[in-house]
Amino acid sequence: MSGYLRPRSGDPAEIGTPTAVDVTVDGRPVAAHAGQTVAAVLLANGRDTWRTTRVHDRPRGIFCGIGACQDCLVTVNGLPDVRACQRTITPGDAITTQTGAALPTTSSPAATVAEQGRRGFEVVVVGAGPAGVAAAVAAGDAGAEVLVVDNGRAVGGQYNRQLPAEFAARRPDRLQHEWKVFAEQRDRLVSHPRITYLPDTSVWAIEGLRLWAQTGPADASGRQPFAIDAQSVVLAAGAYDRVLPFPGWDLPGVYTAGAAQALAKGQRIAVGHRVLVAGTGPFLLPVAESLVGVGAHVVALLEANSLTTVRKGWSSDPLVAPSKLREAFGYGALLARHRIPLRHGWTVIAAHGTDHVEAATIARLDSDWRPIRGSERRVDVDAVCVGFGFTANLELAVSAGCTITTGPDGSPAVAVDADQQTSTPGVFAAGELTGIGGAALSAAEGTLAGTTAAHHALAGSDAAGTASVRGAVERGRRFAAALARAYPVRDGWKSWSTADTLVCRCEEVTRGQVEAAAQERGLNDGRAMKLSSRAGLGMCQGRVCSRTVAALLAAPGDVPEPSMKRPIAVPVRLRDLADAEVAESPETVLDTMEEQ
Ligand code: FES
Repeated sequence: MSGYLRPRSGDPAEIGTPTAVDVTVDGRPVAAHAGQTVAAVLLANGRDTWRTTRVHDRPRGIFCGIGACQDCLVTVNGLPDVRACQRTITPGDAITTQTGAALPTTSSPAATVAEQGRRGFEVVVVGAGPAGVAAAVAAGDAGAEVLVVDNGRAVGGQYNRQLPAEFAARRPDRLQHEWKVFAEQRDRLVSHPRITYLPDTSVWAIEGLRLWAQTGPADASGRQPFAIDAQSVVLAAGAYDRVLPFPGWDLPGVYTAGAAQALAKGQRIAVGHRVLVAGTGPFLLPVAESLVGVGAHVVALLEANSLTTVRKGWSSDPLVAPSKLREAFGYGALLARHRIPLRHGWTVIAAHGTDHVEAATIARLDSDWRPIRGSERRVDVDAVCVGFGFTANLELAVSAGCTITTGPDGSPAVAVDADQQTSTPGVFAAGELTGIGGAALSAAEGTLAGTTAAHHALAGSDAAGTASVRGAVERGRRFAAALARAYPVRDGWKSWSTADTLVCRCEEVTRGQVEAAAQERGLNDGRAMKLSSRAGLGMCQGRVCSRTVAALLAAPGDVPEPSMKRPIAVPVRLRDLADAEVAESPETVLDTMEEQ
C-alpha cells in the first residue's frame, strides 16, 4: 500500500470541492469523487493490487497508466477486463477485484457490424495530443471537413494531460508546460467550424481509408461502434514508455514513468511516499517534478547514461544545445530545491518486496550499462518509476500497410516522405509515430501532415505556404537526433535480468524460457517465439514485451525487429460488435452524446 491522493489544501492547481460519488470496492463503500478513474479510487483508498495473474497468481495493479499494458484489469458492475487506468467512475459503480483475465463471452466475428450509416470525412485524425491537434487545426484551416477521434476524455494526449473537468481546478495551467500554446490550440480545435471532435473514442481497425471505431466509456459494455470513411487519414496515436526488465519489475509499486506522471498530473495521485525515478531521457525530469507536486519524496533520479554521454549528445548540434542548456538549468534548480540527487550512470537493477516494493537495488553502470561490481546499494522505497524511452503506437499504421522503418533512437517508426505521407496513399503520420522527438516536433509534423492531408483530400487545393512549418520539422528532427545521441539505450541492460526474471508480464514467461526456446528450437523471430513460448501472446499483445524479446533474440549488431502486427488495435469486446445491428455514423454518435 503506497499510493495516496494529494491533499487539496495547498495544491498549486487549486482543485475545487469535489462531488462525492458512491462506489464500492469488493462490496464495501469507499471514498471517491467525480472525475476519478477506477485506478485513482483504488490507489487513494490504499489498494495498489487488485488482480492476480492467470498462471501464477501474481499480484497486479497499475503499471503503464495509459491503457497499453492491461495489468490493471478490474471488474466494474459485473463486467470483467476493464482497464482501471482508463475508466472514469460513475455513481453506483461496483468495483470488484479480478483473477486472471476473463474469456470473451461470444466468438462472433467483428465483421457482423453492419456496414450502414457511414458518413465520410475529408480528413480523419486519430489522436488528440500535440500532433493530432495541430493536424486537425491545419486541415480545418485548409478547408477540409475534419473528424478527430481520441481515446482520451479531453484534448491533450499524454503530453498535455488534463485534470478532469469535475475537479474544477482554478489553476490547471500550473501543472502544464507551455500552457498558453496548448490552450490556444485546444480552443481552436473545439471551436473550429469544420472540426468534429469525438473524445472517448477508439479506432480499433483500419481497412484502406475506412476506420472502425467505438465510442463510450473506456472498456464499458455497449460502446457504440461505427465506421468512418475518409479521403485522408492522419495517424497521430502517440507512444508509451519502454521498460527494460530487471528482477522484481513486475512487483506492484513498480510503475512506468508515464504512469506516475499520468496519475500525478491527471488525478493528483502520488504513487508512493518514497519514490525512485530511473531510466534514461529528459522525460524523467518532469516526472520527478510532477511527483514532487503531489507531495512524494523523490529519493533519487537515476539517469543511466553518463553525464559525458548526455553532454556530448546535446552539444553535437549547435542549434539544439542552447535550448537544452536553459531547460537543464531550470530542472537543476528544481532538483536542488527539493534535494533530489541526480545521478548519471546509475540505474535500478532490482526491486524487492513480497506483495509490494519495499526496497530497490541501484548500481553504477559502465559505458555499456553493465552494473559495476561492488557499486550496488539498497535503498528503501515504496515506489519505483522507470522509463527507457518510448515505443510508438504503430498498430494502425502496420494494419494500413505503411512501411515501418527505424527512428533516430532505434525504435520502430513509420516511414514518411517530406509531406508526412506514408507509403500507403492517403495515410499520413505525425508525432511520435515517425520517431521520438518531443512535443515541438510532434506539433510541427502535425501541422504539416494536416495541411498535406487536406491537400490530398481536396484535390487541387493549394498546399503552399508550408515553408515555415517545414523549417520547424527540420529543426525538430535535429533535436530528435541529438536526443537519441544524448540518451542511447546500451545493450548492457540485458545483464540486469536473470533466468527467472519475467520478460512477458502477461503470460509470465521468463527470460530463461525465451532463451531456451530460442536455443532448442532455433527461433529467432518474435512471431515464432510468440507461438512457441507465449511471450507476446498475452492481453497487451506484446506491447510491453515484444521489443525486449526481439532484442534478446537479435544477433549482435542486428537491429531487433519486434512483432508489431495487431490487427485489433485496441481492446474491444466481441459481444459489442456482435450485438450491433447497425453501425452508427459519427454524426449519430454525436447526437446521442449531446442528448445524454
Ligand atoms: S507483456 Fe503483455 S503479452 Fe507480453
